[in-house]
Amino acid sequence: MLGKKIEKRINEQIQSEFYSSHFYLSMAAYCEEIDLSGFAHWMRVQSEEEREHAMKFFDYLNERGGRVFLEAIDKPPSSFKSPRDIFEQTLKHEQQVTKMIHRLYKTAKDENDYATEVELQWFIREQVEEEKAASDILEKLKMVQNAPGALLMIDRQLGSRERNP
Ligand SMILES: [Fe+2]
Ligand SMILES: [Fe+2]
Repeated sequence: MLGKKIEKRINEQIQSEFYSSHFYLSMAAYCEEIDLSGFAHWMRVQSEEEREHAMKFFDYLNERGGRVFLEAIDKPPSSFKSPRDIFEQTLKHEQQVTKMIHRLYKTAKDENDYATEVELQWFIREQVEEEKAASDILEKLKMVQNAPGALLMIDRQLGSRERNP
């Protein structure tokens, strides 16, 4: 049986993962608007992955006899300045999510909830990958400084992102 405190925190995390999904979808819409379909594809895949994160917590709560309580999802930003701006925001966002996951892990430790600790290890690892992916793309974007040719090359590369199995 899951403790009430952990249940509450996991529900907050579910809300946060759905917010992330919304946030990336909003950036996908912006990328479509400026005709960078590869960037838009990347953002859509990211949005789907965030939804999967929410569902992973959803399933976990049910497995442990907890209860899922869905909350309202905040409105994500809808105006962005440039492809570089969206990856700056992506990196900052993922760094904040990492902090949340770490806080959740600390709570699980304090509550001696070993099963939740183990479940969270996957997310800790996932955050390392997400921060790295965002930061790699951001570095490239800084390098090319909006040169159209280079931007289109990055667009093609981002367009080939595959969904995680
Ligand atoms: Fe996530
Ligand atoms: Fe994420």
